[in-house]
Amino acid sequence: MLWTIFLLLNGLLILVLIYSSRTRQKNEPPLDKGLIPWLGHALEFGKDAAKFLARMKDKHGDIFTVCVAGHYVTVLLDPNSFDGVLNDTICLDFSRSKKQLLEKIFCLQLPSIKPTAERKWMEQHFRGLNLSKLNSSMSVHLQNLLLSDQKCCSPSQWTKDGLFSLCYSLLFRAGYLTLFEKQENASVVYEEFRKFDHLLTKLARCSLKRGESQIATLSRERLWELLSPNCLNSESESKSWQQSYHHFLQQEGADAEMQKRAFLLQLWTTQCNAGPSAFWLLGFLLTHPEAMEAVKTEIRGLNLQNPHTDPLKAHNTPVFDSVLSETLRLTAAVMISREVVQDKILRMASGQEYHLRRGDRVCLFPFLSPQNDPLIHQQPESFKYDRFLNEDMTVRDKFYKDGKRLKYHTVPWGAGRNICVGKDFAVSAIKQFVFLFLTHLDLELCDPEAKLPPVNTSRYGFGMLQPDGDLQIRYRLKRTQHEM
Ligand code: HEM
Repeated sequence: MLWTIFLLLNGLLILVLIYSSRTRQKNEPPLDKGLIPWLGHALEFGKDAAKFLARMKDKHGDIFTVCVAGHYVTVLLDPNSFDGVLNDTICLDFSRSKKQLLEKIFCLQLPSIKPTAERKWMEQHFRGLNLSKLNSSMSVHLQNLLLSDQKCCSPSQWTKDGLFSLCYSLLFRAGYLTLFEKQENASVVYEEFRKFDHLLTKLARCSLKRGESQIATLSRERLWELLSPNCLNSESESKSWQQSYHHFLQQEGADAEMQKRAFLLQLWTTQCNAGPSAFWLLGFLLTHPEAMEAVKTEIRGLNLQNPHTDPLKAHNTPVFDSVLSETLRLTAAVMISREVVQDKILRMASGQEYHLRRGDRVCLFPFLSPQNDPLIHQQPESFKYDRFLNEDMTVRDKFYKDGKRLKYHTVPWGAGRNICVGKDFAVSAIKQFVFLFLTHLDLELCDPEAKLPPVNTSRYGFGMLQPDGDLQIRYRLKRTQHEM
């Protein structure tokens, strides 16, 4: 009897799947549902989204719809057509899927806060005078941490370390001290954060194994406590960024529990990208001696003698800026996603029109195009430190596809309404960090033939990529600061 019911139910399910399954309609992008009903391409997508989407691009072209765990996602890979998605705030919505993600990862719900109000608040705090103060504070913390961490202090003694952990740990702690101003627990927060960050992509995809689920939950709770406003340093004279944010949350009506959880979201947003960027940048320099020499030559040309001026503010650094753009082109992999809330006709730059269905998602993945598109960037897989430099040493920002100048030739900071608020702060922090490293430390690969580790492919779509493994380096204090 049980078997009969089981077989009947199975048969019913198969019939439902066959009859309810979707087919491509006139004017819709090519549809690729994958072989497994409902799940579609979810496994391949989660394992290595860049590889999967590159395969789909080869098969279908610049626009196609794929089925991923019950959702139909239209992927648009023509940067000349991005504005049709980025500028549409009527048929496309970015806040709903973001809200779902925040709930999954951070158990966070802030129904009373409008995304525009939060964005406005953030913008005020990462611009103008506030930004200058944050930059100065970051510079002091970086110097203190870098020099205090060199316990050896003897220029003759080398220290070995993994470049990724070194960069992430230093930039994270300096950023934390700058924004959260809690001196006493920076290292503990960093260690706990790395555990949480390690499982973050699985949390987002609901693919945690049982043991991992427990670690993620405990780690999240521990971080909530460590960041909790109760532990805020009330003696501090000036209001820290975190205290102002706390005030903002209270004003906007977030309850005490959600305030606590919102701090973890902000810790992740503000600290998860700078460390990995600095790792890739220094890693590329160490494995490309001609690029390292060009950056050092540029630094030698800066006036380092005047202690009252910040050499990085007083001078242009076009070589460094090009190295940073090239690093981010190769390692920043955000996915810009919108929900289709009304049926929409998307007009491509070619003039072709496609119908997007209500309830589907649209997704841009600039890592694939423009950033790694061979029609835009020659030999896109190679690191070329001067790719973003003109011959007269000005910034190169003219790139073309099909003869048309691109508005988006690299998109590391996102685009449209939720473009990175902290871009200027991040650029300044990475620049200060690399500058300090190169002027204060001798730095070399443990194995001169070593290559950069491969990318952790599960992180495509989550901002800056992270390596799978590390790059072993050794470093020591320079005898004199400016001996380069
Ligand atoms: C290299 C470092 C960084 C990179 C590559 C980066 C990249 C990005 C990207 C791609 C987004 C958009 C995400 C999306 O569309 O879903 C974003 C958003 C954001 N970033 Fe950054 N970021 C960096 C560092 C920072 C730093 C240091 C801060 C602040 C201290 C910051 C603050 C923010 C904030 C607040 C948002 C949310 C904006 C919104 O939702 O409206 N970022 N970032």
